[in-house]
Amino acid sequence: MEKVGSAPNSIASAGNIAPSKMNGPLWVNAEITYKCPLHCVFCYNPIDYTQYGPELTTEDWLRALRQARELGAVQLGISGGEPLMRDDVEIMVAESSKLGYYVNLITSGIGLTEKRIAAFKEGGLGQIQLSFQDSTRELNDFLSSTKTFELKSKVAKLIKQYEYPMVLNVVLHRMNIDHIEQILAMAEAMGAEHVELANTQYYAWAMVNRDQLLPSREQLARAEEITNQFRARVGNRTKVYFVVPDYYADRPKRCMNGWGTTFLNITADGLALPCHEARMLPGLTFPNVRDHDMRWIWQDSPGFNAYRGEGWMQEPCRSCPEKEKDLGGCRCQAFMLTGDAANTDPVCDLSPLHHLVTEVVDKAQNPGNPAKVQPVVFRDDRNSRKLSGKGEAIPADVTPVA
Ligand code: SF4
Ligand code: FES
Repeated sequence: MEKVGSAPNSIASAGNIAPSKMNGPLWVNAEITYKCPLHCVFCYNPIDYTQYGPELTTEDWLRALRQARELGAVQLGISGGEPLMRDDVEIMVAESSKLGYYVNLITSGIGLTEKRIAAFKEGGLGQIQLSFQDSTRELNDFLSSTKTFELKSKVAKLIKQYEYPMVLNVVLHRMNIDHIEQILAMAEAMGAEHVELANTQYYAWAMVNRDQLLPSREQLARAEEITNQFRARVGNRTKVYFVVPDYYADRPKRCMNGWGTTFLNITADGLALPCHEARMLPGLTFPNVRDHDMRWIWQDSPGFNAYRGEGWMQEPCRSCPEKEKDLGGCRCQAFMLTGDAANTDPVCDLSPLHHLVTEVVDKAQNPGNPAKVQPVVFRDDRNSRKLSGKGEAIPADVTPVA
């Protein structure tokens, strides 16, 4: 699954909400299943997703969503994996809409039949975000390791037919970013009202494939320029969001608008998290919505309080005049790159460990002979088990395209 809509950078646009546990959550993301027919190389589901327990039941979901709504949550993303792998999405949509949520379905389109979309309309679904991997059948199908391009194109028509705004998401990276013109042309032809060109952020499966996915500076600059030309031509007809990859910034994003301020993610097996990736952080335990009330989870659980506000900060963040702006960046990125989640996010050029980012960026300018680059690792059960230490070494499946 892509960080669609619920991506850290999108959340930042929710505005700078004071980091108080009494506010919110405003935005809940329900990752209702880790099952997915696609195998995207940049999926942000945990690498060891095969190791987790059973999915929440419909009743568990409805109880958790009701409690979150009572706390003030107004926006609900239903995502996965592929959420349409479950047959109770219609119930969740209808019940959540009745509770007063604005409900957004985040989908690859696989499984979105006319019968289901009609039921979603009836149930009050507000928005459908459809993902494509590329504007070409070849690369779309390669990156997802499925033959789904035609099906997605049909689903795009269905979304329009049912008078939903077309919200198209394409995750950008080294392999598809040079198709930016064609991707924008595809969006225009589909009548997209919103296009999210989300450069890959390097978590989970994307981190495994980082060397193959990080674009060069030149690729990025060209893509941004073409996007700006497109914006100037189409005006308000199509709103285009272009999310720059963290690695090319010199200040970090205010991840999730601040830990425990705005966003609450519930995983397929019921863990409540302050962001999509936090379950990998060592030394923290997160509550399960099966066992705890949402108010306690949000306000009092140790996991949600671990990085709230500024008290946890070390130098240079602690004495930095910009700390209120970005709250030290992303805890998960700090952990992945430096081994300590309380460090400054090394995307920041004030971090003494900023070189951990610039070295990767430098390498991306000249990645070498494509034939010698490591093969990409697809997100599937077999690779998940292997990366979790529950199987053999990962085989060299496929050589990436140049
Ligand atoms: Fe933000 Fe910390 Fe960098 Fe200051 S030192 S800009 S608070 S990440
Ligand atoms: Fe940024 Fe976890 S993904 S804090």
